[in-house]
Amino acid sequence: MIRQPIISVMGHVDHGKTSLLDRVRSTTIAKKEAGGITQHIGASEVPLDVIENVCGELLKRFGAKIIVPGLLFIDTPGHEAFTNLRKRGGSVADLAILVVDVTKSFEPQTYEAIEILKEYKTPFIVAANKIDLITGWTKKETYSFLESIAQQNQNVVNEVEARLYQMVGKFSEIGFNSERFDRITDFQRELVILPVSAKTGEGIAELLVYATGLSQKFLGSRLEVDVNEPGKGSILEKKEERGLGTTIDVILYNGTLNLNDTIAFATTNGIGTAKIKALLKPKSMQDLRDSTSKFDYVDSVAAASGIKIAGSGLEDALPGSLVISTRSNTYNDEIKMEIQEAFATAQTGVILKVDTIGSLEALSKLLTGMNIQISKKGLGDVNKRDILDAFAMKASDQYSSIVLSFNVNVAYDAEAESMATGVKVINENVIYKILDDYKEWLEHAKMIEKEQAEKAITFPGMIKALPNSFFRVSNPAVFGVDIVMGRIRPSYLLMDETGKKIGRIGEIQHNGVNLPEGKMGESLAISVDDAVLGRNVKENMKFYTLVDDQSEMLLRQKFKHLLTEQEIALLDKISELKRQMIERQ
Ligand code: GTP
Ligand code: MG
Repeated sequence: MIRQPIISVMGHVDHGKTSLLDRVRSTTIAKKEAGGITQHIGASEVPLDVIENVCGELLKRFGAKIIVPGLLFIDTPGHEAFTNLRKRGGSVADLAILVVDVTKSFEPQTYEAIEILKEYKTPFIVAANKIDLITGWTKKETYSFLESIAQQNQNVVNEVEARLYQMVGKFSEIGFNSERFDRITDFQRELVILPVSAKTGEGIAELLVYATGLSQKFLGSRLEVDVNEPGKGSILEKKEERGLGTTIDVILYNGTLNLNDTIAFATTNGIGTAKIKALLKPKSMQDLRDSTSKFDYVDSVAAASGIKIAGSGLEDALPGSLVISTRSNTYNDEIKMEIQEAFATAQTGVILKVDTIGSLEALSKLLTGMNIQISKKGLGDVNKRDILDAFAMKASDQYSSIVLSFNVNVAYDAEAESMATGVKVINENVIYKILDDYKEWLEHAKMIEKEQAEKAITFPGMIKALPNSFFRVSNPAVFGVDIVMGRIRPSYLLMDETGKKIGRIGEIQHNGVNLPEGKMGESLAISVDDAVLGRNVKENMKFYTLVDDQSEMLLRQKFKHLLTEQEIALLDKISELKRQMIERQ
């Protein structure tokens, strides 16, 4: 049997995702949402006859034979706080519709949605929404964009072109070729852009035709399901419902689930099970998010479907986890594997604490993609143990000595331990903020390390003893010098042109003021402990800084960029002098 393709609608907040679905279903979910913002994942089935109704003539013109029984739409929130819900929407989707407001173009969660789709290799099409807001647009009585645009005046046509062109540019910046749907030559290589208005309905016909056609074209065998198989799906959310207790919203993508089936899923302690006490399916065109009065109580449900399940034992179910009927012989292994994958860690790496298995998966993927290893993953609040584990990490990798946490609290004793050990805890409710904060912390830590290393290094320097500027003969000798090349600092050892040690620089002064460093071109007074003027220091003699082997290695390998060509040549000269001196000994 061919099931409905699961189509996730994604995009930045307020770009019109819910409104688009409302338009398709003739519902008004968007208007009823608290604060006008979607805060839960929705799912609703749009049957074939509705699609045919909207698309009408267009379908015939495309000559497309529809084999899917309808489309299962998933509505995701665009607000930045709901990354985990978006991720879950993206992960179960066969195909996605990326909604972009043409008057706003790309915004942060547009990029985030694209990242999620790339991560799951989910094919997508683009709905360029709100074309009715383009100046001069007049609403035409049609669901077809092509029919409507043919009747708009030239200024409007030009403006639509300009907006779409801008969008094509944005896609190009991030490596996608894109084009207006009717100008696409290669659907494998070009991203389809469909101009629409959720408000007027114009463009909805093409949007549905392309969503249907492309899922048939690209998904193929992925849509073939065996309804006799035990049901298998993904938990979107866990909710308390009056009269039902704990329920889970599930996208069922394979097989069938029946009343009284036992289902298994991941919990924080391993695998949990529950017997299905009630199975609720939204009525056709109704949304999984809507009040349960718009649901049918059913005995059995087949993929693909968005359903609500009630049953005792669901309290521990982890949103984002697989849910499989225990009629399946492999349910144990499948869930175990999912848990193992989600919790797999490396020897060294950061400590990660998050709220749900879905967030764990999302953050793990993102961090691994940035080459950041994770040594410990957990669900729940950051505790003292986490801080101590991060502290212990310092010995093997100081850049991993940190706790990254998402959507959880930091326990009081963990906070105290963090203060005591200096282990940083990044705690955020927005995934991208965690990554940004971590990068910032990393840069800062590396900068401090570099500063410290740089301070410990002896840099190459060449100086010349000035005539008529011998101020004190010895203990320490004080005399005037020109810095011919490179730099000198207090504590540097000096050697003469034969590689013989002269003594160590004590102070560097200019006009009686102590300086931390003397640079090329400056004339300064220096004190050198073991030097004796007139004996091993004479007027116009040249001296070199004695760059120790450790400094030389660091300079050549890590800090080469801090040296000029001239200074590198000077370093070569100094190592040659050192070598000659050793040979003579
Ligand atoms: P979140 O779910 O919170 O991310 O928002 P959303 O993308 O679902 O946006 P929603 O559908 O709630 O629409 C946001 C606002 O834009 C509402 O006021 C809609 O009426 C308006 N809107 C959506 N689509 C259109 C459109 O095509 N034209 C015009 N003029 N307004 C639109
Ligand atoms: Mg919405």
